[in-house]
Amino acid sequence: MSDLESAPPAKAVPNGMPFPSFDLPLPDKPEIITANLQKLVELTPNPRHKFIFKALTKHLHQFVNETSLSTDEWMAAINFLTRTGQKCTPLRQETILLSDVLGVSALVDAINNPVIEGATESSVLGPFLTEDAADVDFGESIASEGKGDYMYVEGRILTTDGEPVPNAVIETWETDANGFYDTQYADRSHPDCRGRLRSNDDGRFGYRAVVPVAYPVPGDGPVGELLSLLGRHNMRPNHLHIMVEAPGFHKLVTALYPEGCDYIVSDCVFGVKKSLVVSLKDVTDDEEARRLGFPRGGSFKLLQHDIVLLTEEQSAAIRARVDEERGVITADKH
Ligand code: BEZ
Ligand code: FE
Repeated sequence: MSDLESAPPAKAVPNGMPFPSFDLPLPDKPEIITANLQKLVELTPNPRHKFIFKALTKHLHQFVNETSLSTDEWMAAINFLTRTGQKCTPLRQETILLSDVLGVSALVDAINNPVIEGATESSVLGPFLTEDAADVDFGESIASEGKGDYMYVEGRILTTDGEPVPNAVIETWETDANGFYDTQYADRSHPDCRGRLRSNDDGRFGYRAVVPVAYPVPGDGPVGELLSLLGRHNMRPNHLHIMVEAPGFHKLVTALYPEGCDYIVSDCVFGVKKSLVVSLKDVTDDEEARRLGFPRGGSFKLLQHDIVLLTEEQSAAIRARVDEERGVITADKH
């Protein structure tokens, strides 16, 4: 960009939007502020945007009225949101974490991925997926030795008719036994406890991993402070993230939650669904452990779970039906 292009304009420039065709009464009562804003929202050209902002402004003003928000509380909220944004880095998304602990991420996920009998349910993505996971062949390990107790994960990627989905790309990630994702280590030199694999011709996949542990979501930022203020813990139950993509199928972002963890019923980000709680088998067969490639042999846990994908058409049809039932003005249909 040249100096000329980046120089600020000599005169302040308005955004070019026209005057509204109506006058707004001067707000000598608080209700008039709300009414004026609602009239202005009617100007929004895009119907979906108008629909969203009508609801947003209505509820936002209702919230301020209902709580009789004090000036100090308003300032505290502004400071909180500012600090939340400032805490974000390429490896840390505090704003999404805020959405997570307020249940907004789980709600958006639930609305966008309605349950269909037989299909694998979705779960929150979380901030720890990276793009640099290593490709892992069938049966290989996503975790380097010493990262946790041995676990073997296997299953099939299937359609709702029970047909195999070959060549599906499966991204999977988890913490180590310390409850840290690799990206949380300052000296991270390579991806660990994560991998990318493909289902084989029968739709099967299998890989070595470590037994997931419960862990706290990052607590050293504004969202951590918020949870403490609310008297809430910041723990997630033990889980293994799995994301599956295959041409013609709706992308599935999910996680499996081994049963028996106390935090399953108080996940701080509301990610657990009953159908995603799985049992781990104890395999105490040294020979089998070594055959599967666990270097120290001994025993391991076995997680067997099939993943059932919806086609794009199935997913779009159910989503359209849900929107219809809710009377929603959607982006593509207005
Ligand atoms: C996770 O499971 O990785 C996660 C989800 C939401 C917030 C923080 C972490
Ligand atoms: Fe996680």
